[in-house]
Amino acid sequence: MSRVTPQTNAVIECILSRNAAKYYDPAATLSDDQIRELVRIGTSAPTSFHLQNWRFIAVRTAEAKARLSPIAWNQPAITDAAVTFIVCGQLADSSVIPDRLAPLVEAGVMPAEMVPEWEIPARNLYMDYPQRQRDEAVRSGTFGAAAMIYAARSLGLGSTPMIGFDAEAVHHQFGLGEHEVPVMLLSVGTERPGNWPQKPRRPVADVLDLV
Ligand SMILES: Cc1cc2nc3c(=O)[nH]c(=O)nc-3n(C[C@H](O)[C@H](O)[C@H](O)COP(=O)(O)O)c2cc1C
Repeated sequence: MSRVTPQTNAVIECILSRNAAKYYDPAATLSDDQIRELVRIGTSAPTSFHLQNWRFIAVRTAEAKARLSPIAWNQPAITDAAVTFIVCGQLADSSVIPDRLAPLVEAGVMPAEMVPEWEIPARNLYMDYPQRQRDEAVRSGTFGAAAMIYAARSLGLGSTPMIGFDAEAVHHQFGLGEHEVPVMLLSVGTERPGNWPQKPRRPVADVLDLV
């Protein structure tokens, strides 16, 4: 395979040039339409059986930020970034599959008789396995967040994934359902000077097994 250089490919350049921001311009906002567009892009990420088991709470007003900040270690990104998403994963539940696949059938992507062929194995995989249900919630939320992180980067915006928050307090304060897990917080906005440069990575030889 020929070596792909970042300069020749905008997507790879976007991936390779990202870093996590700490400092944001507190005066820079995003419109609700821009926030919606980021989430729309996030929801293009893949999910198991097309479950789309996620929800995104966009914390963007001063009032909502003031509720989130003290239960998120008072991290500066919460108050300063234009928006912080509470990325919620939903416990994998195969009973939603007919509803989630209906638009595919409608659009002619999938034949109707194939729906049970997805629902039944999903039921067998998740129904009696709470840990798998939760793993899938975290996986889906993470994929969605990742898509939003790179979309933000491509739009010239910084982003910060954050696990530094009190999950129970966030659950209660922002009305998450019993079946919802706050997977991470994700701040997005215009960066201001002072953020660290990119961090070196472990060598590929240390993290890759070719078998
Ligand atoms: C799951 C996850 C949780 C993180 N939590 C926080 C956090 O609470 N606060 C923070 O400032 N950075 C947080 N980070 C950012 C990491 O510190 C950062 O991604 C890592 O040091 C690598 O740096 P880079 O993203 O700039 O390449 C988190 C990153 C991930 C993926």
